[in-house]
Amino acid sequence: MEKMVLENGKELSLFIDNNTRGWDAADEYLLSQKIEGKNILIIGDSYGALTCGFSGNITTYTHSVLSRNYIASAMDKNGITANIITSINDFPSDIDCVVIKLPKSLDLYEYYLQIVGQRYSGASFLAGGMVKYMPITMVRKTEEYFNSVTTSLAKKKARLILGCVANNCSNPTKFPREYTTEHGLKVLSYPGVFSYDHLDIGTRFLIDYIPSDFKGKIMDLGSASGVLGLTAKIKNPDSSVVLTDESYLAIESAKENFSGNGLIGEFHVMDVLKGFESDSVDLILCNPPFHNDNKVTTDIALQMFIQSRRVLKRGGQLFIVANKHLGYHKKLREIYHNLKKEGENDKFFIYSVRKV
Ligand SMILES: C[S@@+](CC[C@H](N)C(=O)[O-])C[C@H]1O[C@@H](n2cnc3c(N)ncnc32)[C@H](O)[C@@H]1O
Repeated sequence: MEKMVLENGKELSLFIDNNTRGWDAADEYLLSQKIEGKNILIIGDSYGALTCGFSGNITTYTHSVLSRNYIASAMDKNGITANIITSINDFPSDIDCVVIKLPKSLDLYEYYLQIVGQRYSGASFLAGGMVKYMPITMVRKTEEYFNSVTTSLAKKKARLILGCVANNCSNPTKFPREYTTEHGLKVLSYPGVFSYDHLDIGTRFLIDYIPSDFKGKIMDLGSASGVLGLTAKIKNPDSSVVLTDESYLAIESAKENFSGNGLIGEFHVMDVLKGFESDSVDLILCNPPFHNDNKVTTDIALQMFIQSRRVLKRGGQLFIVANKHLGYHKKLREIYHNLKKEGENDKFFIYSVRKV
């Protein structure tokens, strides 16, 4: 299997599976840069290329449990030691260089700039991404926050932003953001979390189908900031509600939303439902993801349908909001052998299936 070869000759084994490379041209470009200092903070590595490729005392932050697992496995395969963290509260105090793999969300990038600026003034700064996901506003934001900002030439459709970390922003934008739903519920979210500053239209439609006076265990699967779980708990005060997502920032948002509304919930960061107790939940609510790394895919949704069947109690139900064009009904019917169309509008179906 092909390896990633760095300019200094170091070879890294970084494949996610037989056909998929765990790095891109932006990782290669970042790794070709000479870094000053020993203590390096990497933000947003997906598959371990940056964590394994840079030399020094590495701390690597990701808010995705999937990336956390990929990075850990890459470190293991390549015999690398680094400190993986999933909470911004665990950022180290002493950092000489910050490296950011540019996220898709400009607001998430700005959130990182704020935190890095407040903590590591004077450190060197290096960010990189593929040009097509790197609007000029990312460069402008960097200039707003940091000093001596320059951009590189594009190389293999990747580009870098370089500079010096500073605490220049006197009036930083407030994160997390908050919005109010039409039902009067206040929802707070960190950037990078799904639909973080507004209620998604699919979620809004599914809310109308959440039953009332339900006793038992309700799960918000792929909860993001937990709008479905919060609504379920408010409609059903005698139920217990569990929320799961693969993003630590999502679950952090959901926790703050529950405590802010004086509600108790159970929270798990996990890949789909791996490790969750079988036959333990009465009702699962899900607005499944259909993107992964900028690609449209129903693979994660399919895993959610399959693993929900294991986690549901006999007689338990899964409610799905489904974009009409995605054809979820075929998969749901194959897995559950029963499917009820609960509702429909111009864009979505609401389906329910039952574990028998
Ligand atoms: C379409 S969003 C729905 C979010 C929320 N339930 C709502 O309706 O606003 C799908 C969610 O699934 C989460 N997700 C994606 N892949 C996942 C995985 N492998 N395991 C768990 N959650 C995942 C995403 O982080 C995202 O929050």
